[in-house]
Amino acid sequence: MTIKKIFVVGAGTMGNGIAQTAAVSGYEVTMMDMVEEALDRAKKTIEKSVNKLYEKKRITEDQKETALNIATTSSMEDIAKADFVIEAATENLELKLKIFTEMDKLAKPGVILASNTSSISLTKIASATKRPEKVIGMHFFNPVAMMKLVEVVRGKQTSDETMETVVWLAEKMGKTPVVVNDSPGFVSNRILCPMINEAIYTLEEGVSTKEGIDTVMRLGMAHPMGPLTLADLIGLDVVLSILEILHKDLSDDKYRPAPLLRQMVEAGDLGKKTGKGFYEYN
Ligand code: CAA
Repeated sequence: MTIKKIFVVGAGTMGNGIAQTAAVSGYEVTMMDMVEEALDRAKKTIEKSVNKLYEKKRITEDQKETALNIATTSSMEDIAKADFVIEAATENLELKLKIFTEMDKLAKPGVILASNTSSISLTKIASATKRPEKVIGMHFFNPVAMMKLVEVVRGKQTSDETMETVVWLAEKMGKTPVVVNDSPGFVSNRILCPMINEAIYTLEEGVSTKEGIDTVMRLGMAHPMGPLTLADLIGLDVVLSILEILHKDLSDDKYRPAPLLRQMVEAGDLGKKTGKGFYEYN
């Protein structure tokens, strides 16, 4: 099937980044969210991002205009026109299963249903549909406009054809795809989240200050940002939920979330998105 129209479900940080990247790459994009204000916020975020990219001559005026004209909807029924679907809703198993059942009913037969999940089993998500061979993980990284990777996650029943189409599409979107198997946290978060968790334990035990820990990893290991700053960017609730999945599904206490992380999430200090995490943001 020729892919022209891409439908993105969820207008949060990842959803709007994916919608923007697809539009800039020449696709006709519709971004869907049940919450109208989320769509308004997403349009503003996209506008800021494409203006910056245009000023730096990283995109053309036409690409900028295409991204500024992304269609929005609060109705899932509009999925019927799509040739490809990317789900980027909140990281919650029950919600994703419900969304995939609905998407499966409304999308054209044969259309691939990809999920941007960062840790939930694709095999489980696929079981909510009657097209498990067409369900796959297409895991983008934040900020989507800047990060080159797409982790392509094959569920147990994902077909070779689906995998090849998604690899091709990720490249068309200017990204480098890496295919991995369906396992808790895939490759990215199996490695990243325990590192962030260890940084939080290190802070909690008073081994160094937050600035000290971040500087060690930035200057000693050439990470673009320290692990505590990165946790604030990802969202502490997201980091906690990934660690909980690793802890439960791999049955190993080495993934036990740091008590300080849990406490901060309970206090609503979720990082950049709430204005306060390990650091404060205006
Ligand atoms: N759109 C357009 N431009 C953007 C942008 C966006 N969304 N985000 C950042 N930029 C721009 C900045 O505005 C800045 O422009 P100026 O130089 O004109 O100010 C430029 O990119 C560079 O940014 P900064 O100077 O702020 O800092 P930087 O050089 O460190 O780059 C970064 C920023 C690309 C985010 C870099 O710090 C980085 O790569 N950090 C690591 C991010 C990372 O690890 N992401 C993965 C998180 S894990 C995940 O997403 C998946 C999961 O499942 C949890």
